[in-house]
Amino acid sequence: MSLKIRQLSYAMGAEIIGVDIRKPMDDQTFEEVHAAFLKYCVLLFRGQEFTRQQFIAFSESFGELEDEDKILRHAVNVKDKEDIKILTAKFPVPVSESWHSDKNNKLVPTMATLLRAIEVPDVGGDTMLSNQYLAYETLSEGMKKLIDKLDGIYPGSKGRLDESTPERLAETMRVNAPVAQPLARVHPETGRKSLFLGERVKKIVGMTEEESKPLLDFLMQHSSRPQFVYRHVWQKNDLLMWDDRCTNHMAVGDYDRTQVRHTERTCVVGTPSGFIYDGPLTVKYA
Ligand code: SIN
Repeated sequence: MSLKIRQLSYAMGAEIIGVDIRKPMDDQTFEEVHAAFLKYCVLLFRGQEFTRQQFIAFSESFGELEDEDKILRHAVNVKDKEDIKILTAKFPVPVSESWHSDKNNKLVPTMATLLRAIEVPDVGGDTMLSNQYLAYETLSEGMKKLIDKLDGIYPGSKGRLDESTPERLAETMRVNAPVAQPLARVHPETGRKSLFLGERVKKIVGMTEEESKPLLDFLMQHSSRPQFVYRHVWQKNDLLMWDDRCTNHMAVGDYDRTQVRHTERTCVVGTPSGFIYDGPLTVKYA
């Protein structure tokens, strides 16, 4: 079968037309979808109704899924929807309004995120994605040389470190160790380098916070320049899939909060990257 591919923006993204995601993909279809995924970094499958089980099965064709029950649910503003309320209570995941890629604070960051829209507000609630290959490739040679050797420190996934005494710091570091990730990461499949940096990074290994901040501020700002960004305006029954190894994303909370924005997400397990950071910490994570 031959797919139809419609490019979504100059920076990245493609709509895939002609794949029924309710059915297992044959080898040729999978290869074409996978090649498009590596090339365009973001894929859109539009207007198909499918069950949660079909969603999980489609996601699993790209690899093992993260999380015990294989799926993570997002539901926002669900006051009037009893059934959705139950899911939200069970999985209270807020929509994140900062640039990041999924699990970038873990030793095995996510490979791909698949997000489907079950219900969308009349207007707003878009998802923005930015191409981190382009962000890296458009840096000067001097800046590339500098950041090629640097790692950014992410706070441990349980948030704040207790720095009130050296003993408490040691204990919270033990159970909630920060992870350092390369600022420039080589994509394990394409071999291309991309900027790999989320807004939670406040410090660079081997530098003080004061030294790190201007560089990180510059890189964060550069990484989300409009020419690297695709902004997805959701329609009901959209399935968007992105490569977390070379993109950042951010949900935009600009919609009428009396309306429902209900999405479901799966994440495909990635490959190891980074290391546990156990060096000096002068930064306080908010
Ligand atoms: C996320 O940040 O993982 C979800 C993005 C969205 O809800 O648009």
